[in-house]
Amino acid sequence: MDLPISDHPLAHCRNPGARRGAAPPASLLALLSPDAARAARREIASWPGYAPTPLVDLRGLAAAAGLGRILYKHEAPRFGLGSFKALGGAYAVLRVLQEALRAAGIAEEASSADLRAGCWREETARITVACATDGNHGRSVAWGARMFGCRCVIYLHETVSAAREQAIARFGAEIRRVSGTYDDAVRRAAEDAAAHGWIVVSDTSYPGYLDIPRNVMLGYTVMVDEAVAQFPSGEEPTHLFLQGGVGGLAAAVAARFWQLYGSDRPRVVVVEPDRAACLFESARQGRPVGVPGDLDTIMAGLACGEPSLLAWQILEAVADDFLTIPDAAAVETMRLLAFPPAEDPPLVAGESAVAGLAAVLLARRRSDLAAALELREDSRVLLIGSEGATDPETWAHLVGTAPESVGEVL
Ligand SMILES: Cc1ncc(COP(=O)(O)O)c(C=O)c1O
Repeated sequence: MDLPISDHPLAHCRNPGARRGAAPPASLLALLSPDAARAARREIASWPGYAPTPLVDLRGLAAAAGLGRILYKHEAPRFGLGSFKALGGAYAVLRVLQEALRAAGIAEEASSADLRAGCWREETARITVACATDGNHGRSVAWGARMFGCRCVIYLHETVSAAREQAIARFGAEIRRVSGTYDDAVRRAAEDAAAHGWIVVSDTSYPGYLDIPRNVMLGYTVMVDEAVAQFPSGEEPTHLFLQGGVGGLAAAVAARFWQLYGSDRPRVVVVEPDRAACLFESARQGRPVGVPGDLDTIMAGLACGEPSLLAWQILEAVADDFLTIPDAAAVETMRLLAFPPAEDPPLVAGESAVAGLAAVLLARRRSDLAAALELREDSRVLLIGSEGATDPETWAHLVGTAPESVGEVL
Protein backbone atom coordinates (compact mmCIF):
# COMPACT_ATOMS: atom_id res chain seq x y z
CA MET A 1 0.00 0.00 0.00
CA ASP A 2 1.33 3.45 -0.95
CA LEU A 3 0.46 5.34 2.23
CA PRO A 4 -0.26 9.01 1.66
CA ILE A 5 1.85 10.44 4.53
CA SER A 6 5.49 10.01 5.49
CA ASP A 7 6.45 8.66 8.87
CA HIS A 8 6.33 10.95 11.92
CA PRO A 9 6.53 10.13 15.60
CA LEU A 10 3.18 9.35 17.18
CA ALA A 11 2.57 8.76 20.89
CA HIS A 12 -0.36 6.66 22.08
CA CYS A 13 -2.05 6.34 25.46
CA ARG A 14 -5.02 4.05 25.92
CA ASN A 15 -7.60 5.28 28.42
CA PRO A 16 -8.35 2.43 30.81
CA GLY A 17 -11.36 4.35 32.17
CA ALA A 18 -13.20 4.55 28.83
CA ARG A 19 -16.54 2.79 28.76
CA ARG A 20 -16.97 0.84 25.54
CA GLY A 21 -20.05 -1.12 24.67
CA ALA A 22 -22.16 0.59 27.31
CA ALA A 23 -24.91 3.18 27.25
CA PRO A 24 -23.91 6.67 28.41
CA PRO A 25 -24.10 6.90 32.21
CA ALA A 26 -26.58 9.28 33.85
CA SER A 27 -23.63 11.39 35.01
CA LEU A 28 -22.70 12.10 31.38
CA LEU A 29 -26.25 12.96 30.41
CA ALA A 30 -26.32 15.38 33.32
CA LEU A 31 -23.14 17.10 32.11
CA LEU A 32 -24.47 17.55 28.56
CA SER A 33 -28.15 16.75 28.17
CA PRO A 34 -29.78 15.51 24.96
CA ASP A 35 -32.64 18.02 25.41
CA ALA A 36 -30.19 20.88 25.67
CA ALA A 37 -28.37 19.63 22.55
CA ARG A 38 -31.64 19.54 20.62
CA ALA A 39 -32.49 23.05 21.82
CA ALA A 40 -29.09 24.30 20.63
CA ARG A 41 -29.72 22.80 17.20
CA ARG A 42 -33.18 24.40 16.94
CA GLU A 43 -31.83 27.77 18.01
CA ILE A 44 -28.71 27.88 15.84
CA ALA A 45 -30.56 26.58 12.79
CA SER A 46 -32.82 29.64 13.06
CA TRP A 47 -29.98 32.17 12.69
CA PRO A 48 -29.55 34.08 9.44
CA GLY A 49 -27.00 32.41 7.18
CA TYR A 50 -27.34 28.98 8.78
CA ALA A 51 -26.53 26.04 6.53
CA PRO A 52 -25.15 22.60 7.42
CA THR A 53 -21.47 22.37 6.52
CA PRO A 54 -20.47 19.79 3.90
CA LEU A 55 -19.50 16.24 4.83
CA VAL A 56 -16.83 15.40 2.29
CA ASP A 57 -16.27 11.75 1.41
CA LEU A 58 -12.51 11.47 0.77
CA ARG A 59 -12.61 8.28 -1.28
CA GLY A 60 -9.17 8.63 -2.81
CA LEU A 61 -7.51 9.18 0.52
CA ALA A 62 -9.45 6.34 2.15
CA ALA A 63 -8.37 3.95 -0.61
CA ALA A 64 -4.75 5.09 -0.33
CA ALA A 65 -4.84 4.65 3.45
CA GLY A 66 -6.58 1.26 3.34
CA LEU A 67 -9.69 2.44 5.14
CA GLY A 68 -13.37 2.02 4.28
CA ARG A 69 -14.21 5.70 4.42
CA ILE A 70 -12.75 9.00 5.49
CA LEU A 71 -15.54 11.49 6.09
CA TYR A 72 -14.41 15.07 6.61
CA LYS A 73 -16.90 17.55 8.09
CA HIS A 74 -15.61 20.75 6.55
CA GLU A 75 -16.25 23.60 8.98
CA ALA A 76 -14.52 26.36 7.02
CA PRO A 77 -17.79 27.78 5.62
CA ARG A 78 -19.55 27.87 9.01
CA PHE A 79 -21.48 31.18 9.14
CA GLY A 80 -18.72 32.81 7.12
CA LEU A 81 -16.46 32.75 10.20
CA GLY A 82 -13.99 30.12 9.03
CA SER A 83 -14.36 27.57 11.83
CA PHE A 84 -16.71 25.40 13.89
CA LYS A 85 -16.20 27.82 16.77
CA ALA A 86 -18.92 30.01 15.23
CA LEU A 87 -21.38 27.56 16.80
CA GLY A 88 -20.18 27.78 20.38
CA GLY A 89 -19.19 31.25 21.56
CA ALA A 90 -22.05 33.05 19.82
CA TYR A 91 -24.59 30.58 21.23
CA ALA A 92 -23.23 31.09 24.74
CA VAL A 93 -23.42 34.89 24.31
CA LEU A 94 -27.08 34.55 23.36
CA ARG A 95 -27.80 32.46 26.46
CA VAL A 96 -25.94 34.97 28.69
CA LEU A 97 -28.06 37.84 27.40
CA GLN A 98 -31.31 35.89 27.66
CA GLU A 99 -30.47 34.96 31.25
CA ALA A 100 -29.52 38.55 32.16
CA LEU A 101 -32.82 39.87 30.80
CA ARG A 102 -34.72 37.17 32.67
CA ALA A 103 -32.87 37.78 35.94
CA ALA A 104 -33.53 41.52 35.68
CA GLY A 105 -37.26 40.86 35.21
CA ILE A 106 -37.15 42.50 31.75
CA ALA A 107 -38.02 39.56 29.51
CA GLU A 108 -38.87 36.05 30.65
CA GLU A 109 -37.97 34.51 27.28
CA ALA A 110 -36.24 36.95 24.95
CA SER A 111 -35.93 35.30 21.54
CA SER A 112 -32.80 35.58 19.45
CA ALA A 113 -34.87 37.23 16.71
CA ASP A 114 -35.98 39.93 19.16
CA LEU A 115 -32.43 40.46 20.32
CA ARG A 116 -31.21 40.76 16.74
CA ALA A 117 -33.99 43.24 16.06
CA GLY A 118 -32.70 45.34 18.97
CA CYS A 119 -35.82 45.00 21.18
CA TRP A 120 -33.73 45.27 24.39
CA ARG A 121 -30.71 47.06 22.96
CA GLU A 122 -30.61 49.66 25.74
CA GLU A 123 -30.32 46.93 28.38
CA THR A 124 -28.01 44.56 26.51
CA ALA A 125 -25.63 47.35 25.49
CA ARG A 126 -24.79 47.73 29.19
CA ILE A 127 -23.59 44.10 29.33
CA THR A 128 -19.97 43.26 28.47
CA VAL A 129 -18.83 39.77 27.53
CA ALA A 130 -15.13 38.95 27.62
CA CYS A 131 -12.89 36.01 26.80
CA ALA A 132 -9.40 34.84 25.96
CA THR A 133 -8.85 33.22 22.61
CA ASP A 134 -6.32 31.90 20.14
CA GLY A 135 -8.52 33.46 17.49
CA ASN A 136 -11.49 31.34 16.53
CA HIS A 137 -13.46 31.37 19.79
CA GLY A 138 -12.99 35.13 20.14
CA ARG A 139 -14.25 35.62 16.61
CA SER A 140 -17.42 33.75 17.53
CA VAL A 141 -17.96 35.66 20.77
CA ALA A 142 -17.37 39.00 19.05
CA TRP A 143 -19.76 38.02 16.25
CA GLY A 144 -22.40 36.94 18.78
CA ALA A 145 -21.98 40.17 20.76
CA ARG A 146 -22.47 42.21 17.58
CA MET A 147 -25.43 40.09 16.45
CA PHE A 148 -27.26 40.13 19.78
CA GLY A 149 -26.26 43.62 20.90
CA CYS A 150 -23.74 43.72 23.77
CA ARG A 151 -20.18 44.98 24.38
CA CYS A 152 -17.23 42.64 23.93
CA VAL A 153 -13.59 42.59 25.12
CA ILE A 154 -11.24 39.93 23.73
CA TYR A 155 -7.88 38.91 25.24
CA LEU A 156 -5.13 37.66 22.94
CA HIS A 157 -1.80 36.19 24.02
CA GLU A 158 1.34 37.41 22.34
CA THR A 159 1.65 34.86 19.55
CA VAL A 160 -1.86 35.26 18.13
CA SER A 161 -1.34 36.65 14.63
CA ALA A 162 -2.36 40.13 13.49
CA ALA A 163 -4.67 38.57 10.89
CA ARG A 164 -6.58 36.73 13.61
CA GLU A 165 -6.75 39.95 15.67
CA GLN A 166 -8.21 41.88 12.73
CA ALA A 167 -10.81 39.20 12.08
CA ILE A 168 -12.09 39.70 15.63
CA ALA A 169 -11.83 43.49 15.67
CA ARG A 170 -13.99 43.54 12.52
CA PHE A 171 -17.00 42.75 14.74
CA GLY A 172 -16.39 45.79 16.94
CA ALA A 173 -14.75 44.00 19.88
CA GLU A 174 -12.12 45.75 21.99
CA ILE A 175 -8.83 43.81 21.82
CA ARG A 176 -6.39 43.49 24.73
CA ARG A 177 -2.97 41.85 24.28
CA VAL A 178 -1.52 39.73 27.13
CA SER A 179 2.07 38.50 27.43
CA GLY A 180 2.53 34.74 27.87
CA THR A 181 0.37 31.87 26.64
CA TYR A 182 -3.32 31.27 26.03
CA ASP A 183 -3.65 30.13 29.64
CA ASP A 184 -2.24 33.48 30.86
CA ALA A 185 -4.84 35.27 28.73
CA VAL A 186 -7.59 33.10 30.25
CA ARG A 187 -6.51 34.19 33.73
CA ARG A 188 -6.31 37.91 32.78
CA ALA A 189 -9.77 37.83 31.21
CA ALA A 190 -11.18 36.30 34.40
CA GLU A 191 -9.46 38.88 36.64
CA ASP A 192 -10.55 41.89 34.57
CA ALA A 193 -14.09 40.60 34.27
CA ALA A 194 -14.33 40.15 38.04
CA ALA A 195 -13.03 43.69 38.57
CA HIS A 196 -15.46 45.30 36.07
CA GLY A 197 -18.56 43.15 36.44
CA TRP A 198 -18.22 41.64 32.96
CA ILE A 199 -19.31 38.15 32.00
CA VAL A 200 -16.62 35.75 30.86
CA VAL A 201 -17.74 33.65 27.89
CA SER A 202 -14.95 31.12 27.86
CA ASP A 203 -14.61 27.91 25.90
CA THR A 204 -12.74 26.37 28.79
CA SER A 205 -14.17 25.55 32.20
CA TYR A 206 -12.80 25.37 35.71
CA PRO A 207 -14.22 24.62 39.17
CA GLY A 208 -17.21 26.89 39.76
CA TYR A 209 -17.36 27.95 36.09
CA LEU A 210 -19.18 25.33 34.07
CA ASP A 211 -22.49 26.67 32.77
CA ILE A 212 -21.23 29.03 30.07
CA PRO A 213 -18.64 26.60 28.64
CA ARG A 214 -21.41 24.00 28.67
CA ASN A 215 -23.43 26.23 26.34
CA VAL A 216 -20.36 26.67 24.13
CA MET A 217 -20.09 22.88 23.89
CA LEU A 218 -23.81 22.48 23.26
CA GLY A 219 -23.34 24.71 20.24
CA TYR A 220 -20.66 22.33 18.93
CA THR A 221 -23.05 19.36 19.13
CA VAL A 222 -24.92 20.81 16.14
CA MET A 223 -22.14 19.37 13.94
CA VAL A 224 -23.02 15.87 15.06
CA ASP A 225 -26.74 16.25 14.38
CA GLU A 226 -25.91 17.53 10.92
CA ALA A 227 -23.40 14.77 10.23
CA VAL A 228 -25.80 12.04 11.31
CA ALA A 229 -28.22 13.23 8.62
CA GLN A 230 -25.38 13.29 6.06
CA PHE A 231 -23.83 9.81 6.44
CA PRO A 232 -24.58 7.45 3.62
CA SER A 233 -27.27 5.19 5.11
CA GLY A 234 -25.98 2.32 7.22
CA GLU A 235 -22.52 3.83 7.07
CA GLU A 236 -22.22 5.38 10.50
CA PRO A 237 -18.62 5.99 11.53
CA THR A 238 -16.73 3.33 13.43
CA HIS A 239 -14.12 5.86 14.58
CA LEU A 240 -13.97 9.53 15.53
CA PHE A 241 -10.51 11.12 15.40
CA LEU A 242 -10.99 14.44 17.18
CA GLN A 243 -8.37 17.08 17.77
CA GLY A 244 -8.10 18.57 21.24
CA GLY A 245 -7.19 21.98 22.59
CA VAL A 246 -8.91 22.28 25.96
CA GLY A 247 -11.09 19.31 24.94
CA GLY A 248 -14.44 21.02 24.39
CA LEU A 249 -14.78 20.02 20.74
CA ALA A 250 -13.81 16.40 21.31
CA ALA A 251 -16.01 16.05 24.40
CA ALA A 252 -19.07 17.65 22.81
CA VAL A 253 -18.85 15.56 19.62
CA ALA A 254 -18.09 12.30 21.42
CA ALA A 255 -20.81 12.85 24.03
CA ARG A 256 -23.45 13.61 21.38
CA PHE A 257 -22.48 10.45 19.48
CA TRP A 258 -22.80 8.48 22.69
CA GLN A 259 -26.24 9.97 23.32
CA LEU A 260 -27.39 9.09 19.82
CA TYR A 261 -25.80 5.64 19.36
CA GLY A 262 -25.56 4.35 22.93
CA SER A 263 -23.50 1.19 23.28
CA ASP A 264 -22.85 1.22 19.50
CA ARG A 265 -20.96 4.47 19.68
CA PRO A 266 -17.81 4.82 17.56
CA ARG A 267 -14.33 4.47 19.00
CA VAL A 268 -13.14 7.91 20.14
CA VAL A 269 -9.53 8.93 19.58
CA VAL A 270 -8.37 12.35 20.82
CA VAL A 271 -5.41 13.91 18.98
CA GLU A 272 -3.17 16.74 20.19
CA PRO A 273 0.05 18.46 19.15
CA ASP A 274 2.99 16.86 20.96
CA ARG A 275 3.92 20.27 22.36
CA ALA A 276 0.52 20.98 23.93
CA ALA A 277 -0.80 17.61 25.02
CA CYS A 278 -2.69 18.34 28.24
CA LEU A 279 -5.44 15.81 27.53
CA PHE A 280 -2.93 13.07 26.71
CA GLU A 281 -1.07 13.83 29.93
CA SER A 282 -4.33 13.88 31.91
CA ALA A 283 -5.16 10.45 30.49
CA ARG A 284 -1.71 9.18 31.45
CA GLN A 285 -2.11 10.43 35.01
CA GLY A 286 -5.80 9.60 35.35
CA ARG A 287 -6.77 13.12 36.42
CA PRO A 288 -6.92 16.56 34.77
CA VAL A 289 -3.42 18.05 34.73
CA GLY A 290 -1.75 20.92 32.91
CA VAL A 291 1.44 20.69 30.87
CA PRO A 292 4.24 23.22 31.23
CA GLY A 293 6.10 25.06 28.50
CA ASP A 294 5.37 27.66 25.86
CA LEU A 295 3.00 25.35 23.91
CA ASP A 296 4.82 26.31 20.76
CA THR A 297 2.88 24.59 17.97
CA ILE A 298 1.64 25.78 14.60
CA MET A 299 -1.72 24.22 15.52
CA ALA A 300 -2.73 27.46 17.23
CA GLY A 301 -6.26 26.35 18.14
CA LEU A 302 -4.82 23.34 19.95
CA ALA A 303 -2.09 25.22 21.84
CA CYS A 304 -3.68 24.76 25.26
CA GLY A 305 -1.84 23.65 28.38
CA GLU A 306 -4.79 23.02 30.68
CA PRO A 307 -7.83 20.86 30.01
CA SER A 308 -11.36 22.16 30.39
CA LEU A 309 -12.77 20.53 33.53
CA LEU A 310 -16.16 19.86 31.98
CA ALA A 311 -14.58 18.44 28.84
CA TRP A 312 -12.29 16.24 30.87
CA GLN A 313 -15.18 14.84 32.92
CA ILE A 314 -16.72 13.69 29.64
CA LEU A 315 -13.54 12.54 27.92
CA GLU A 316 -12.38 10.41 30.82
CA ALA A 317 -15.45 8.23 30.23
CA VAL A 318 -15.77 8.40 26.43
CA ALA A 319 -12.29 8.85 24.95
CA ASP A 320 -10.83 5.43 24.22
CA ASP A 321 -7.40 6.60 23.12
CA PHE A 322 -5.18 9.67 23.10
CA LEU A 323 -2.52 10.41 20.48
CA THR A 324 0.00 13.17 19.92
CA ILE A 325 1.46 14.29 16.60
CA PRO A 326 4.24 16.72 15.65
CA ASP A 327 3.71 19.93 13.67
CA ALA A 328 5.39 18.46 10.59
CA ALA A 329 2.61 15.87 10.28
CA ALA A 330 -0.01 18.62 10.34
CA VAL A 331 1.75 20.58 7.60
CA GLU A 332 2.05 17.51 5.39
CA THR A 333 -1.66 16.80 5.88
CA MET A 334 -2.65 20.37 5.01
CA ARG A 335 -0.77 19.93 1.72
CA LEU A 336 -2.35 16.55 1.15
CA LEU A 337 -5.85 18.02 1.44
CA ALA A 338 -4.97 20.98 -0.77
CA PHE A 339 -3.45 18.66 -3.44
CA PRO A 340 -5.35 15.40 -2.91
CA PRO A 341 -5.53 12.12 -4.83
CA ALA A 342 -7.42 12.50 -8.10
CA GLU A 343 -10.87 11.40 -6.86
CA ASP A 344 -10.96 13.88 -3.97
CA PRO A 345 -11.86 17.58 -4.07
CA PRO A 346 -9.12 19.99 -2.98
CA LEU A 347 -9.80 21.43 0.48
CA VAL A 348 -8.37 24.39 2.33
CA ALA A 349 -7.88 23.08 5.86
CA GLY A 350 -6.24 25.14 8.59
CA GLU A 351 -3.42 24.08 10.89
CA SER A 352 -5.75 22.93 13.68
CA ALA A 353 -8.23 21.28 11.32
CA VAL A 354 -6.02 18.45 10.16
CA ALA A 355 -4.70 16.89 13.37
CA GLY A 356 -7.33 14.14 13.37
CA LEU A 357 -6.65 13.20 9.76
CA ALA A 358 -2.88 13.33 10.24
CA ALA A 359 -3.19 10.96 13.19
CA VAL A 360 -5.38 8.41 11.42
CA LEU A 361 -3.04 8.31 8.43
CA LEU A 362 0.00 7.93 10.68
CA ALA A 363 -1.68 5.25 12.78
CA ARG A 364 -2.44 3.33 9.57
CA ARG A 365 1.29 3.21 8.84
CA ARG A 366 1.99 1.26 12.02
CA SER A 367 0.40 -2.15 12.22
CA ASP A 368 0.68 -2.37 16.02
CA LEU A 369 -1.11 0.92 16.48
CA ALA A 370 -3.68 0.27 13.76
CA ALA A 371 -4.51 -3.00 15.55
CA ALA A 372 -4.71 -1.30 18.95
CA LEU A 373 -7.09 1.29 17.51
CA GLU A 374 -9.07 -1.35 15.56
CA LEU A 375 -8.38 0.47 12.28
CA ARG A 376 -9.18 -1.89 9.42
CA GLU A 377 -10.00 -1.92 5.72
CA ASP A 378 -13.68 -1.46 6.50
CA SER A 379 -13.28 1.26 9.15
CA ARG A 380 -15.26 4.44 8.61
CA VAL A 381 -13.54 7.44 10.15
CA LEU A 382 -15.26 10.75 10.84
CA LEU A 383 -13.10 13.85 11.16
CA ILE A 384 -14.08 17.35 12.11
CA GLY A 385 -12.24 19.65 9.72
CA SER A 386 -12.52 22.36 12.30
CA GLU A 387 -11.23 25.37 10.34
CA GLY A 388 -10.29 26.71 6.95
CA ALA A 389 -7.47 29.16 6.37
CA THR A 390 -8.35 31.31 9.39
CA ASP A 391 -4.94 32.95 9.04
CA PRO A 392 -4.43 33.03 5.25
CA GLU A 393 -0.83 34.27 5.38
CA THR A 394 0.31 31.51 7.72
CA TRP A 395 -1.58 28.97 5.64
CA ALA A 396 0.10 30.16 2.43
CA HIS A 397 3.50 30.05 4.10
CA LEU A 398 2.96 26.48 5.29
CA VAL A 399 1.35 25.06 2.15
CA GLY A 400 3.39 27.00 -0.35
CA THR A 401 0.49 28.56 -2.22
CA ALA A 402 -2.35 30.98 -1.46
CA PRO A 403 -5.64 29.47 -0.22
CA GLU A 404 -7.51 31.00 -3.21
CA SER A 405 -5.27 29.18 -5.68
CA VAL A 406 -6.26 25.71 -4.45
CA GLY A 407 -9.54 25.73 -6.34
CA GLU A 408 -11.75 24.62 -3.47
CA VAL A 409 -15.37 24.26 -4.55
CA LEU A 410 -17.90 24.17 -1.76
C1 LIG B 1 -9.80 25.22 14.57
C2 LIG B 1 -9.85 24.60 15.92
N1 LIG B 1 -9.91 23.27 16.03
C3 LIG B 1 -9.97 22.66 17.22
C4 LIG B 1 -9.95 23.39 18.39
C5 LIG B 1 -9.98 22.66 19.70
O1 LIG B 1 -11.13 22.88 20.43
P1 LIG B 1 -11.12 22.70 22.01
O2 LIG B 1 -10.23 23.77 22.57
O3 LIG B 1 -12.54 22.84 22.41
O4 LIG B 1 -10.55 21.36 22.29
C6 LIG B 1 -9.89 24.78 18.33
C7 LIG B 1 -9.86 25.59 19.54
O5 LIG B 1 -9.71 26.78 19.52
C8 LIG B 1 -9.84 25.41 17.06
O6 LIG B 1 -9.76 26.73 16.94
